[in-house]
Amino acid sequence: MERERWATRLGFILAAVGSAVGLGNIWRFPYITGQEGGAAFLLVYLLFILIIGLPAILLEFVVGRRTDRNPVGALKQLATGPFRYIGYVFVVTGFVILSYYSVVAGWTIRYTLIGITDGYSNAIGEYEADAAGLEDVSAAALLFDNIATGTEAMIFHAIFMAIVIFIVGLGIRRGIELAVKLMVPAIIAITAVLVAYAYTLDGASEGYEFYLSPDFGVIASDWTSILPAAAGQAFFTLSLGMGVMITYASYIGEDRNLAKDSAAIIGLDTLIAFIIGLVIFPVLFTAGVTPGEGGVGALFIGLAEAFADVSGGRILGTIFFFVVAIGALSSAISILEVVVSYAVDELGVERMRASAGAGGLIFLLGLLSAYDLVLLDFFDLLVDGVLLVLGALLLAAFIGWQQSDFAIDELGKGVKDLGDWGTTWIWMIRIPVLIVLVVSLVLGILDYWEFLTEDFSAWLDI
Ligand code: PHE
Repeated sequence: MERERWATRLGFILAAVGSAVGLGNIWRFPYITGQEGGAAFLLVYLLFILIIGLPAILLEFVVGRRTDRNPVGALKQLATGPFRYIGYVFVVTGFVILSYYSVVAGWTIRYTLIGITDGYSNAIGEYEADAAGLEDVSAAALLFDNIATGTEAMIFHAIFMAIVIFIVGLGIRRGIELAVKLMVPAIIAITAVLVAYAYTLDGASEGYEFYLSPDFGVIASDWTSILPAAAGQAFFTLSLGMGVMITYASYIGEDRNLAKDSAAIIGLDTLIAFIIGLVIFPVLFTAGVTPGEGGVGALFIGLAEAFADVSGGRILGTIFFFVVAIGALSSAISILEVVVSYAVDELGVERMRASAGAGGLIFLLGLLSAYDLVLLDFFDLLVDGVLLVLGALLLAAFIGWQQSDFAIDELGKGVKDLGDWGTTWIWMIRIPVLIVLVVSLVLGILDYWEFLTEDFSAWLDI
């Protein structure tokens, strides 16, 4: 059967942007930035996007376009020896990411509904009495606790997965491309409105200060955690290290200039993440919430509180959470597509069935994260600190040192005159990219080990 193709160039770019822009930009980026010291982290992160994000996304694109295959098939076709199995690492990572990603996405649906039905101040108000009896716990935090885990969380996780399964099951043109053509412009338009709103808040200047003026002392003292966090976030936000971009590039034609497309994709993703920071930090400082405190829930707790307080907060909050849900959807689609393209190409499963089967298993795994947030952290830290970096590292080492000729040749297609850029790119991958990846992986593993021996083992004891 002829492989399906994107209908338009824009369709491919929007799909890649839709994959890149998601909870990583809106939920993860502000909370990690808060945790890692604000502007100092932002600086390292932006640097990483440029020096490793760009070379790494091109790597996935050339592999996908050359082989026309899913990530598992692609690596089997290109490699001999142990590198043949890199694709399986990607598929496993996809399973793990989507399992908890969908739980968080479920929260965004729930928070959108709160805006529509009760409004944030009423919903939080219901917990006021309980919170009054507790020290240091706000009503908004109690509301979050109630939503984040348990039956409700599982129901919204199920709803979200059902939508993802359906869209991926419809295929590239009828499902994914159509969906992102509606979703990505909506995300951009609404984000712009939110920035203007955040600018009017009392805490705006304090928020900008935290976000935009770096304290270099923080980089010097905390680099062992800033470095892997920035590298992990760079990969997470660009959907790298697990084959999404390999898969999406396998549906494009040879006339595309991959370098140009990459610049557009990375530029848009970074712009949206950056702009979201301009919304979130003013909102958090206005509500008196310290960024980075409260971990995975910080964004939901802080924002719900802020939307409950400010005038027009109900409408803005509803719109905000709705955008986040759409962003999450266009990313989740790309993750499931990796697993589904593997099942369709390699195992010969029919598309809708593959989507339902893989999505169903991912849903089951996600129930763990919806059961307790420590488990969500357990998966998130594993993906971000270890698996994505590992996937990217293996691919970079393999292509950079063993398959660079084909990679440069493929990069040159659709480009008028590549000049020496191909060689420069490969050397970027061979040395600087690999060094950053190895260091990040080691630090990421150590960080994860710390989590396992502290928070996680404490949790197991209960
Ligand atoms: N890039 C997505 C986001 O920022 C998450 C993602 C990671 C998607 C890995 C695909 C692969 O939300």
